[in-house]
Amino acid sequence: MIQTEDMEFAPRFVTPENTQEDGEIEITLRPQTLREYIGQDKVKEKIAVYIEAAKRRGEPLDHVLLYGPPGLGKTTLSAIIAHELGVNLRVTTGPAIEKPGDLVSLLTSLSDNDVLFIDEIHRLSRAVEEIMYPALEDRVIDIIIGKGPSARSIRMDLKPFTLIGATTRAGQLSSPLRDRFGVIERLELYNKEQLTDIVRRSAIILGIPCTTDGASEIAGRARGTPRIANRLLKRVRDFADVMGNGEITQEIADMALSRLEIDSLGLDSLDRRMLNMIIKGYGGGPVGLETLASAIGEEAVTLEDVCEPFLMQLGFLGRTPRGRVATRLAYTHLGFVPPEDNSGQLKLV
Ligand code: ADE
Repeated sequence: MIQTEDMEFAPRFVTPENTQEDGEIEITLRPQTLREYIGQDKVKEKIAVYIEAAKRRGEPLDHVLLYGPPGLGKTTLSAIIAHELGVNLRVTTGPAIEKPGDLVSLLTSLSDNDVLFIDEIHRLSRAVEEIMYPALEDRVIDIIIGKGPSARSIRMDLKPFTLIGATTRAGQLSSPLRDRFGVIERLELYNKEQLTDIVRRSAIILGIPCTTDGASEIAGRARGTPRIANRLLKRVRDFADVMGNGEITQEIADMALSRLEIDSLGLDSLDRRMLNMIIKGYGGGPVGLETLASAIGEEAVTLEDVCEPFLMQLGFLGRTPRGRVATRLAYTHLGFVPPEDNSGQLKLV
């Protein structure tokens, strides 16, 4: 089969979404304490205080909303919070709670001060959200028994608990739900030094020989995301085993990542297709997200959640009210001559 930049059949190595393989290594690599958790310093400092305060008062931690791009460790951080509080953690996702009854049975199975973690909380159904409001605010649930005129509502008390909600799209959360979280924190993309530390830590745990330069090469191409860094570490290890002596050096990492079509800054073929389309197809932009997505045959949410946070962090992409624009840095990185004026438009020569 012929494979080109425009027809991408190979799986993306740099999607931040969790795969089954990631799930397995993530559990092995997951830090257990805030001290072990690398990066997100501001969030960590605040959460450490809230945990200590809740423990001293013997109360549950206030409900926490964690948001930000996928793969940054929202689930990991929640597990750490439960561990540091010394309570149980229940993990589920918004779409898995299909009916109000599912939420009722989850909530009533919690012990004192337990943590309930709901990933993709923006995908809770309306009916489930309705049950959630009094549960979060007053620790009660209203259960409707029967149907029609004879239906009755009974109120049930819940044990004190903490909800940790995680979402990639805080904007999609209804405001009544958002308002019920006492702590709202955004997780940021990691810098190269932090990711190098994460790769080195993971390599030690997995018993992979890896030089600091090798770790740094992987880190620099992991688009700010620990999940991607750990996945690339495993793939680079395969190249080191087969084509080298098993040790991950900068040279091996560079060769392996180039073969995976991940460029020096971590852009993969989808990032490049997106920028190329803005520059070549739309004169540098602005172009609306939906138009852009259909032009390259991708879902708008993928571009928005996966490509854009990283491309914006690199300063390659701008979002304007009229649509997306490619910046001069993007032109240069992709080998185009940037426009002379600041219009963002590509001059045809
Ligand atoms: N593995 C994944 N994310 C991590 C983090 N933030 N710190 C340490 N190890 C990690």
